[in-house]
Amino acid sequence: MAAMCSIIGYVGEKNLGQVLLDGLSRMEYRGYDSAGISGLKDGKFVLLKRLGRVKNLADAVDSSMNLGNVGIGHTRWATHGKVSVRNAHPQISCNGIFSIVHNGVIENYESIKKYLVKQGYKFSSDTDTEVLVNLIEYHYNKEREPKNKFLTSVQKALLHVVGTYGIAVLSKDNPDEIVVARKSSPLLIGVGDGEMFVASDACAIVTHTKNVVYLNDGELARITRSDIFITTMKNKEVNAIKCELDWQTEDVSLKGYEHFMLKEICEQPQSLENAMRGRFSDDMSTSKFGGLQLSPHELRQIDRILFCACGTAWHACLVAEYFIEKYARIPVEVEYSSEFRYRNMPLEKNTLVFIVSQSGETLDSLAALQEAKRKGYKTLAITNVVGSTIARESEGGIYQHSGPEIGVAASKTFTAQICIAAMLALYFGRLHDMSFDEGAAFVQALLQLPEKVAQVLEKKDEIRLIAEKYAHYEDMLFLGRQSMFPIALEGALKLKEISYIHAEGYPAAEMKHGLIALVSEKCPCLFLATQKDILGKTVSNIREVKARNARVVAIVSEEDATSFGYIDDVIAIPDVHDAIRPIVATIPLQLFAYYIAKIRGCDIDKPRNLAKSVTVE
Ligand code: M6R
Repeated sequence: MAAMCSIIGYVGEKNLGQVLLDGLSRMEYRGYDSAGISGLKDGKFVLLKRLGRVKNLADAVDSSMNLGNVGIGHTRWATHGKVSVRNAHPQISCNGIFSIVHNGVIENYESIKKYLVKQGYKFSSDTDTEVLVNLIEYHYNKEREPKNKFLTSVQKALLHVVGTYGIAVLSKDNPDEIVVARKSSPLLIGVGDGEMFVASDACAIVTHTKNVVYLNDGELARITRSDIFITTMKNKEVNAIKCELDWQTEDVSLKGYEHFMLKEICEQPQSLENAMRGRFSDDMSTSKFGGLQLSPHELRQIDRILFCACGTAWHACLVAEYFIEKYARIPVEVEYSSEFRYRNMPLEKNTLVFIVSQSGETLDSLAALQEAKRKGYKTLAITNVVGSTIARESEGGIYQHSGPEIGVAASKTFTAQICIAAMLALYFGRLHDMSFDEGAAFVQALLQLPEKVAQVLEKKDEIRLIAEKYAHYEDMLFLGRQSMFPIALEGALKLKEISYIHAEGYPAAEMKHGLIALVSEKCPCLFLATQKDILGKTVSNIREVKARNARVVAIVSEEDATSFGYIDDVIAIPDVHDAIRPIVATIPLQLFAYYIAKIRGCDIDKPRNLAKSVTVE
């Protein structure tokens, strides 16, 4: 069983081992605990599997080793069946006819296994994946029709499967082919010149080709080096529609940075510009979006907006709630995707549901989308990954255009989501009561965003020095009011994720209702004290924790910086329009967490236990 893993496949003339290992290492950020590849050489599978990092596998592959011209590879994140070489993928069928890699979960694997055992099949792993590959072999051995026997056997096996899968299969009897299939687990085919690639994530193949064909749920494909044949589980032939990836090769390399996370933090002026490009009206008084699939008239009828998301994206939704309620006066609900799907929430008829997901593959968010659609609500997605499952299953939406985010901890994609939230608030605001002048001022503020973010990034060294003073603590509190509360949540999440320091985000005033019991000289507090209208209130909260000996670091507006002389550490950010302040205030928190994690020697881009896209419940 393999749930948050990566798949790579290749058929062509290139050095197979190198293509597979390179693809797997580009997907390392997704989280895994073992890796393996298999090639097909002279009618036999060459199989290599190792525990731990892809590097361990690469060390076992001699560059002169000929693995053949067709192969598949995988990184596995164990769920059922412990981390071991025998449970790693690829898995080979009992009689050695097939080799498979699999992402997803076969829920009914036990009953299928029982049946296959009765038929004489032997098993050498604890995985559901081995059950699937043996089921394919079982159908293959029964199949009388020689034409398309490989593809048909995979299809027949999958018809018995309950669960989710992205699979790539090799057959020793069909040495020039890879058969792939998907259900709720991403898979795409890269089209090269006399070669084809298979991957669960475009970043694995972008250095080879930008031409891709996305497989839809319920589809299978037979891939040779020059041809793709796609069909559905119901035998309906499907045209392979080629799309071009808008990613650059340098997007997936470190470009001189020590970590992807630092690179991605520093890319924010550009990623924010990308999120806004082409999205303002000609008169510069409002925003516009190409993919909403709803007319202004229909959007005006919306009387409630529901946002569903997980993790960092959920924090971005909380900011969206403040923005849309403040500027457009439309009531907003924000719900965890995992809660929404089982909550049976009553909603008004004219509710618009936004699913926000960087990867577009998070299973809980996908399920929330499907539940909202089932109930007949209009659904739109905000996602970074073009062609992702959530992008394809929603009725419309907005792409973030942040470029690939490799660091597991979200950074540039969070600020892009907030930027889109601000533009949505502007759009809805202008559909309702926001005046032309207010809209124009809002647009001007957004246009300044990349420059303001760049100014904060220049404070990198100052923030690193402050981080040094906090790296030894084991607890930390992040506090903010109004739209700074979600930023406090996100600051705490970043610190937890990459430095493993326990941190909590809280509304600053709410602290005195319980959290303050934790405050002491051992538990520093970070305050977001940037909003003029409520500054006095936040200052009172700062004094409350100072009185209890907590060390305080405060993010404040440049104009107010001198009045914070009594605070241990102050990080001043430009004084900006309310609509862009949460983004500008996020930058120091990202850098603060990054430098603390670096000082503590943590694996910043691949934090323990975390995966970039979570495709299990
Ligand atoms: O791809 P998604 O935006 O749907 O992912 C949601 C969360 O899993 C993600 O934001 C997670 O919290 C990250 N580790 C945040 O850094």
